Amino acid sequence: MKFHITTFGCQMNVHDSEWLARALEARGWEPAGEDEAQVYILNTCSVRDKPEQKVYSELGRVAAHLRRDPAVFAAVGGCVAQQVGRGFFDRFPHVRLVFGSDGIAGAPGALERIAQGRDDRVALLDFVNIYEERERPNERTVAVPETRQAFVNIMQGCDNFCAYCIVPYTRGRQKSRHPDAVVEECRALAASGVREITLLGQNVNSFGLDKGGAGVSFADLLRRVAAIDGLDRLRFTTSHPKDIAPEVIAAFGELPNLCPSLHLPLQSGSDAVLKAMRRRYDRTRYLSIVDALKAARPDIALTTDLIVGFPGETEADFRDTLEMVERVGYESSFSFKYSDRPGVAAVNMEPKVAPEEAGERLARLQSLQNSITRKCLKKLEGVRTDAFIEGLSRMQDDGPTWWKGRDPAGRIVNVPLAEGDGLMGMMIPVSIVEAKKHSLVGEKAGSPW
Ligand code: 5AD
Ligand code: SF4
Repeated sequence: MKFHITTFGCQMNVHDSEWLARALEARGWEPAGEDEAQVYILNTCSVRDKPEQKVYSELGRVAAHLRRDPAVFAAVGGCVAQQVGRGFFDRFPHVRLVFGSDGIAGAPGALERIAQGRDDRVALLDFVNIYEERERPNERTVAVPETRQAFVNIMQGCDNFCAYCIVPYTRGRQKSRHPDAVVEECRALAASGVREITLLGQNVNSFGLDKGGAGVSFADLLRRVAAIDGLDRLRFTTSHPKDIAPEVIAAFGELPNLCPSLHLPLQSGSDAVLKAMRRRYDRTRYLSIVDALKAARPDIALTTDLIVGFPGETEADFRDTLEMVERVGYESSFSFKYSDRPGVAAVNMEPKVAPEEAGERLARLQSLQNSITRKCLKKLEGVRTDAFIEGLSRMQDDGPTWWKGRDPAGRIVNVPLAEGDGLMGMMIPVSIVEAKKHSLVGEKAGSPW
């Protein structure tokens, strides 16, 4: 069977889609372009915007392929699938499988049964209480990613119920994966040549606080993974500030392969808004975490998520956010206009901020961020670092080949190199020669030895 996966949303979804692709390939299925596929899988996200509309229009496009091959069918997974559920079956006859994020482990088997005519329609929408281990495609049939980077899930779901957020409703309760399974997967990846691992979870700092973590804290897990031979770079995302333990902060100063970057969503810089958002930290606590991180690892690059126009946010609240952004000096941030999500607490909070007002605040915030980003990058000119090469740069000219790499903090570094191929997954020593708007330009540095 030929399949095509379209993914919306966060890194967890991207990783889920990659896993699903490997699991299908292990069954002899083949990834294919849109025009050739027989099975279309949409992995959806409902965190912001109008996600259902996007999914419906994609499904409309897929329906057009039925003319080419009447056996074509579609599957919808992820957050929108969890919300709309069997509703997809009524609206779109060619949708034969819906699966939520807790149902993904069963998706490859269900797709196979449907393709073989053993099942007509399947809904995998039940929430589970424990992390369900997913099959690991046979290492010999699946090549190591050329980039030698990998994501490893450490948990699913979230228990925080921030007032604006739909995730606890679509991805269910927090379920930590057994730490031994995490370490074992990381070890196997490193043994097969992977040099960079990102540990993934909705709120990794509360890893182990549910029974699935077998009493192992996130700080302990980090230490165990960092100790794996051959692992040059370790990252994790996402962190909730309220749960970050002093041991995790200290780890940034202690574990040489733990990368000096942290995504630490602030959401708002106003104590009143943070309270209404149910974030359970305030400015003072957040700043004390930032100070401790900078003390542990002075070169740490902090990034964040921000929401403007949360119900009740005043101009003064918004200015508090600007002030915090300036004070922390984030290298970059993702900022969003608040939007109502079905069923979340903030839907009933008043007064709503007018969309034009929210739009104007967003523009002000983004322009402040751009100027801070520029300053942060500018400071790096002349610095000696390593670029871990991910592939070719988008920009090429008549001279040597431009390669795209990342420095330890995850910044993009474009480097011109004599080699036209074969550099993916290599670590190249570079000097930063120029800061662009959102990336750096490097030059190969001589070996220090
Ligand atoms: N409106 C706007 N932004 C939201 N986010 C989550 N829910 C909403 C919402 N209802 C943002 C938060 C979160 C990021 C993944 O998406 O900033 O950290
Ligand atoms: Fe959503 Fe808050 Fe959980 Fe993050 S911590 S997924 S923002 S509820």
